[in-house]
Amino acid sequence: MTNIGIFDSGLGGIAVLNELAKKNKANYFYLGDNLRVPYGNRSKAEITSFATDIVNFLEGYDIDYYIIACNTISVTCKDYLREKFKKKFITIADMAIEAAMEYDGDYLALGTKATMESHFYKTTLEAKKPCKVYESKAIDLVNLIEGGVLEGATLNGALDEYLSIANEKKLANIILACTHYPIIKGEISKRLDYKANIIDPAVFLADNIKTDDGANGVNIFMTKESQETSALIKKIMEVDYKLTFIGGL
Ligand code: DGL
Repeated sequence: MTNIGIFDSGLGGIAVLNELAKKNKANYFYLGDNLRVPYGNRSKAEITSFATDIVNFLEGYDIDYYIIACNTISVTCKDYLREKFKKKFITIADMAIEAAMEYDGDYLALGTKATMESHFYKTTLEAKKPCKVYESKAIDLVNLIEGGVLEGATLNGALDEYLSIANEKKLANIILACTHYPIIKGEISKRLDYKANIIDPAVFLADNIKTDDGANGVNIFMTKESQETSALIKKIMEVDYKLTFIGGL
């Protein structure tokens, strides 16, 4: 029986969890810290401290290994978490690089302020292959998605701003470098005025983890109860799950 801990600052990782649980049987323990979301505009010290709180909570469930389903946490403190908890942490950001390597041409990495300011995508991909990686800080997207704004004028206005460099240069590939963004993948596609490859690392991650060992339980813990949260989880998840609101860490 494999117990997998998986976490994000909020709802984004739910889409990663869904992909995983559809394809690989295991016991999943998911924590989304929607009480303190977004993490992407916070300092390195704060993100590291919040991520430590999350893992301390999940350690109560006899976890075999972790999946960091949050780019912001991945690029900010994956090494710190590995060192502190002495466990394996697979990161969505590393998986995203592997997924992106399968495509030719230049890239737009679309992510949070913290992820883009780390330059992880630009530095890593440009060192691995001849390409140019443009970076776009999508500062408001996580808040809009967590608030249930999944379409409409406000979202379109934000997307037009964050995708402007892609539309201007007709970049071949758009990397969804924040796990919240696959939730609005269709809207992202509609705001591009040309055809691009939209790379969703969650699909790649789920295809590259194999744990079919008979167990199959999906436990979701969220730190703040809200109707939008319950509704979005219901909309995203295609397998059975148990949702518990824990009211903070
Ligand atoms: N889903 C998180 C990520 O992948 C969102 C970060 C946030 O809370 O701002 O980066």
